[in-house]
Amino acid sequence: MESQNIEHVSSNLLKAQSHIWNHIFNFINSMSLKCVVDLGIVDIIHNHGKPMPLSKLISSLSIHPTKNDNIYRLMRIMTHSGFFSQQNITLENELEIEYTLTDASRLLLKDNPMSMTPFVQAMLDPVLTNPWHQLSTWLKNDDPTTFETTHKMLMWDYAARDSNFNNLFNESMASDARLVTNLLIEKYREVFIGSKSLVDVGGGTGTMAKALAKSFPQLECVVFDLPHVVAGLQGSDNLKYVGGDMFKEIPPADAILMKWILHSLNDEKCVKLLKKCKESLKHKGKEGKVIIIDMVLDIDQKGDNDITKSTETQLFFDMLMMVVVTGKERNEKEWSNLIYSAGFCGYKITPILGLRSVIEIYL
Ligand SMILES: C[S@@+](CC[C@H](N)C(=O)[O-])C[C@H]1O[C@@H](n2cnc3c(N)ncnc32)[C@H](O)[C@@H]1O
Repeated sequence: MESQNIEHVSSNLLKAQSHIWNHIFNFINSMSLKCVVDLGIVDIIHNHGKPMPLSKLISSLSIHPTKNDNIYRLMRIMTHSGFFSQQNITLENELEIEYTLTDASRLLLKDNPMSMTPFVQAMLDPVLTNPWHQLSTWLKNDDPTTFETTHKMLMWDYAARDSNFNNLFNESMASDARLVTNLLIEKYREVFIGSKSLVDVGGGTGTMAKALAKSFPQLECVVFDLPHVVAGLQGSDNLKYVGGDMFKEIPPADAILMKWILHSLNDEKCVKLLKKCKESLKHKGKEGKVIIIDMVLDIDQKGDNDITKSTETQLFFDMLMMVVVTGKERNEKEWSNLIYSAGFCGYKITPILGLRSVIEIYL
């Protein structure tokens, strides 16, 4: 009995140790992914046209010859985490491993219109990862965000001053917008039917609005974002770019789209912005709606068979919003509080975008 008890205690102790190790080294997954992207490994395997032997992969990379053996180790952890699959083969009497892409790595191909490579590059850039070292310092001071504790300015001001980061960030948003727009038009095009004009507030460089303007030629689209984001961008027949501050005035329209905007703001700013949306919709003198694309925590995501992992991903986003901007991810109750506080009459949540939902709010 005594020895069973000792066994139980030591097994729990070792499990706890392993759990902590896993947390300490979680960043190795992120940084290994960044390295794979930086080295262009996904495109190299894809361009090979068939499963790629390790030796060929190594000879295709511009790495120092003393580092050749390390590629196997990088590929091993990335295979373990689902970015590649591997088979053992015999090549010229030698045992070799060859690699193929998986759904996750195919989404990193540079030529994939929905490629997430720009998102990897921006989110794992030191400008966004350095603030994490200051999280506990920030919790003890009165800076609005950890980003400001680190960089001494708001993220949007940083982007306005650093064109490299600005391009990286805007391209990462554009890559996500391409993926979401394709899915939205395919799965839920009726959300745009009936509107004659639409403003994409904080629409970045216009990826989403461009696709909507093309798919709905009768829809007059405006991309509204900060002046440094839309500077020099050219519109088309039914698309124009307007620079400005969404907290001051939003161009009038009968539909307002806001993707990944409200989650970057605190409650007070969300209500202020939603009231501005209301003014813009009312300018048109008829019924309109706001279409939000954001996460809704704790909602039943159809077809999600790994709830624990999805919840963790949503909580990662929540922490990200806390560290880089002043926002948060919200559950339905929190969304409904914002919506009614801004004076809207109702809303509908449609969870069709994986971890994100479409939230329509009505006047
Ligand atoms: C997280 S990004 C989302 C971009 C785009 N909606 C998307 O999801 O692809 C937030 C956007 O809001 C813009 N933004 C931030 N503050 C703004 C303001 N005061 N007025 C207008 N746009 C603003 C940023 O420049 C950025 O393009």
